[in-house]
Amino acid sequence: MSGTGRPDRVVLVGFMGAGKSTVGPLVARELGWPFLDLDDVVAAAAGRTVPEIFATEGEAAFRAAETAAAERVAARGRLVLATGGGAFTVPETREALQRDALTVWLRCEIETLLARIPADGSRPLAANRATIAPLLRAREPSYALADVTVDTTRTTPDAVARVIAEAARRGRNEGGGTTEG
Ligand code: S3P
Repeated sequence: MSGTGRPDRVVLVGFMGAGKSTVGPLVARELGWPFLDLDDVVAAAAGRTVPEIFATEGEAAFRAAETAAAERVAARGRLVLATGGGAFTVPETREALQRDALTVWLRCEIETLLARIPADGSRPLAANRATIAPLLRAREPSYALADVTVDTTRTTPDAVARVIAEAARRGRNEGGGTTEG
């Protein structure tokens, strides 16, 4: 988080299936802030879905669009943002997401992630199930750069949201660290 005091944004990061899109609206309700999903911002700007962008333009084009979307969102006021699982691993995107924000890693055990990630093509990078565990391991050092970590493996979305909203209310001076849901 940059600056001092309370954050303008709460940014949820972590792997596919960690609960970002489920928990995000609940955090937004707790704080009375709008909720936004970075994937939706990218899709709206491109005029096509995320799987379509991957299929027609490839991952590199998606990552460039994701960085641009993160920059636009960083110029907005208060909001709770759910990010796609790769966003925080790209340094330029991460820098934009960290601006004036409380960043929160929703950590989750691999067995639970595997059960939660749909095998329906909606997640292009999870189409090959064998690559999920190595991808998670490669990304964890980036996720660990978030201000706060909350485990979602055995905790209800409502409870996770309350912990995050409380951390946002406390702000950066007292917040931070790891909370086991
Ligand atoms: C991705 C995760 C997806 C989406 C895209 C790429 C990733 O978002 O951004 O399919 O690289 O892990 P979710 O984490 O919301 O599934």
